[in-house]
Amino acid sequence: MATDSTADRDLATPSGASATLAPATGEAFRNAIARLPSGVSIVATAGPAGKAGFTATAVASVSDDPPTVLVCLNRKSPQNKLMQENAQFSINLLPKDAVTLANIFAGRTGLHLEDRFQHGQWTTLSTGSPVLKDAVMALDCQLLSLQEVGSHIVYFGRVVATETKPRDPDGAKEVLIYHDRHYGEA
Ligand SMILES: Cc1cc2nc3c(=O)[nH]c(=O)nc-3n(C[C@H](O)[C@H](O)[C@H](O)COP(=O)(O)O)c2cc1C
Repeated sequence: MATDSTADRDLATPSGASATLAPATGEAFRNAIARLPSGVSIVATAGPAGKAGFTATAVASVSDDPPTVLVCLNRKSPQNKLMQENAQFSINLLPKDAVTLANIFAGRTGLHLEDRFQHGQWTTLSTGSPVLKDAVMALDCQLLSLQEVGSHIVYFGRVVATETKPRDPDGAKEVLIYHDRHYGEA
């Protein structure tokens, strides 16, 4: 008989009362999370379902060994179908002068799916997903799994190839960031 009281605990429901509290309202959460400075990336996919890409700040490292990352995409986006059917994607961290490209891949210019790739210079690494030649760093990923969480779908990717630009020797700012709903540099 197990004596460890934690052995059978449902890990999705941590102990304590917090799990029963109502979540913060959407607007309060959005105002709070807007204060978190984030690198701006383009997530791109290509394969049997076609080619597409979107601007994203919801990108994070998950595991070092094996190298694993996550990307969150709004479940309303038609790009979910391509991400899932192609089962591979790249993450391209944008350089500071790529605001126009960020806006194109955020759908702010009316260009859709493949048409967005008429802008920027693109190559491939391992999977065949588009990789931006000017990216500060690029991660080429195979889709590992996905999880639907509220408004978004979280895609976990196993990193199979990387490309990283050397650091500016003078320490100049290089990366496009998004902070307080404005672009900036880091
Ligand atoms: C700076 C910035 C960051 C964004 N980050 C995300 C993100 O992490 N996840 C997401 O689903 N949409 C994000 N978006 C919005 C998508 O880029 C945009 O909704 C999408 O490209 C347009 O939808 P479509 O590609 O399906 O036409 C971001 C937009 C901007 C301008």
